Amino acid sequence: MQNTLTNYSDFYRQSVEQPDAFWAEQAQLIDWHQPFSRVCNDDNPPFVRWFEGGKTNLCHNAVDRHLAARAEQAALICVSSETGQEKIYSFKALHQEVQRMAASLQALGVQQGDRVLIYMPMMAEAAFAMLACARLGAIHCVVFGGFASGSLASRIEDATPKVIVSADGGSRGGKALAYKPLLDEAIRLSSHKPQALLLADRGLAPMALVAGRDHLWSDLREQHLDAQVACAWLDAAAVSYTIYTSGTTGKPKGVQRDTGGYAVALAASLKHIFDGRAGETFFSTSDIGWVVGHSYIVYGPLIAGMSSIMYEGLPTQGMDGKPNGGIWWQLVEKYRVTVMFSAPTAVRVLKKQDPALLTKYDLSSLRALFLAGEPLDEPTARWISEGLKVPIIDNYWQTESGWPILTIANGVEKKPSKFGSPGVPMYGYKVKLMHETSGEELTQPGEKGVLVIESPTPPGFMQTVWQDDARFINTYWKSIAGKTVYNTFDWGIRDADGYYFILGRTDDVINVAGHRLGTREIEESISGHAQVAEVAVVGVADALKGQVAMAFVVLKDASLMADEAASLKLEGEIMKRVDGDLGALARPARVRFVSALPKTRSGKLLRRAIQAVCEDRDTGDLTSMEDPAVLQQIRERM
Ligand code: PRX
Repeated sequence: MQNTLTNYSDFYRQSVEQPDAFWAEQAQLIDWHQPFSRVCNDDNPPFVRWFEGGKTNLCHNAVDRHLAARAEQAALICVSSETGQEKIYSFKALHQEVQRMAASLQALGVQQGDRVLIYMPMMAEAAFAMLACARLGAIHCVVFGGFASGSLASRIEDATPKVIVSADGGSRGGKALAYKPLLDEAIRLSSHKPQALLLADRGLAPMALVAGRDHLWSDLREQHLDAQVACAWLDAAAVSYTIYTSGTTGKPKGVQRDTGGYAVALAASLKHIFDGRAGETFFSTSDIGWVVGHSYIVYGPLIAGMSSIMYEGLPTQGMDGKPNGGIWWQLVEKYRVTVMFSAPTAVRVLKKQDPALLTKYDLSSLRALFLAGEPLDEPTARWISEGLKVPIIDNYWQTESGWPILTIANGVEKKPSKFGSPGVPMYGYKVKLMHETSGEELTQPGEKGVLVIESPTPPGFMQTVWQDDARFINTYWKSIAGKTVYNTFDWGIRDADGYYFILGRTDDVINVAGHRLGTREIEESISGHAQVAEVAVVGVADALKGQVAMAFVVLKDASLMADEAASLKLEGEIMKRVDGDLGALARPARVRFVSALPKTRSGKLLRRAIQAVCEDRDTGDLTSMEDPAVLQQIRERM
């Protein structure tokens, strides 16, 4: 089908008008142990079951099936500018390591359907653990290594893992970061206790082991050197993983994904969107703790038979640990990277480096740079586009979708990009703009509305919220009056050519350096401080990070506000508290003490008004506000 189509509009039309034929063809991109009997079962919307009756395995598709043609080719290229180490695993070596990991997990009691939580830095073992779970049909739940005990504890509580795979520590900017004490504290906080811990010791931080519970990967690996563990053939709808993401409430949602649909979605996206080919190298600078790392460091590139670079470290640090703003370009040259994927924040960091670094290396292998996770501003896009002289492809999606919703399908038709726009709806996505309260569909170019997706959602899209179908329906599918559509919680507009522009979130989610954070979670952490009576956290525009969190706090003892030393001490304590609960990435850039917060007469906190004041924008209609004078105080304290 796609071979005979030369323009994207036809390709897209076919995907939404004849979805069964379209996706049946895409499904041929992966191996099936048993063919599916029905392409799309959406008898019970908004739930969708793709490729019903089919049996497959993600690990088989990412690893085993490549052994025949590319056993010796690099599969994972693990580079750490933190430890100075560089290690390449061929598909054959990866196959072996994954089986050792799978056998070790089995020895610790892991069976099909069990959850395994992975709390690890960017090291090869993290990918082995993910693939080993997929091999066994165990459900992995990767938690970003930058999260601290509180965030980790709530995820342990919700995922109830039988085993946790972790490491002694990670490192950032040359500073070792101990993981084990954070993990031990999280397990203490959680009412669910894992049966066993499997720990990789990198010699970065001291690690105390609990006898009988904690096991070293080096020991178990040794015991299973020759392990042969077959792939479990799983129903296409079997849960492959959950990944937690922030929303409007303080409780993170476990985004749940299937097996067959996800494998097909990734294989198709590598072909049609990223235009990545077997034998080439894909370099995504994300982290396995985020959805981009799941889809485009581990599973996507490997399913496509590509080598994937896993990079640990800052974008500005050389292999000798010294400052080097050219490290990524050095890797592009060395490994002949054809497709690169990063975030606008990273490019803004690189923009501050010596521009000669862009011409120092041979970047001729590179065909395109994909950027996602936050709005791509025009100066950044222009700078990198002129520097690299390859297409810069903005792509918009979410943890929930698993793969791009809006972008340019570079592998189908190299349509031109427009600065400021991620592009057009991807095949399989029925994207609409709707009025936030009336639910009326907005069809005129330039009208601002909420970006929604109509059912059925395409393969790879979240199945539900882990253990909470009601939350899935109520949060995502019932928030627009009278309509059953998936709400992205992003504002958007569409121009006359059908290109979309994203205008920010409609809810309380903020985006700091491409990391999605819930302001409610930060507020909950701050509220835990004994001196705090009330708090509001908002995201404020920042030239480098896109947004930063700002906290406005009302103290129980108002007299402390006037005491400069006491305020400073409290600000430090509050920041430390957020560091300890959630991790440094959630730490507010500033904490300001005020005597009251702006609220409606019914007591609803007006975060948008605070945000507008912080960004020096018009606050809009304030007639519902109880006491507009409090905004003046916020303005003064900025
Ligand atoms: O607000 C949108 C923003 O990031 C949110 C999703 O974040 P996350 O779940 O971490 O998934 C990131 C996957 C790349 C979206 O709701 N966002 C993501 N990409 C873009 C974006 N905003 C503007 N432009 C983008 N390209």
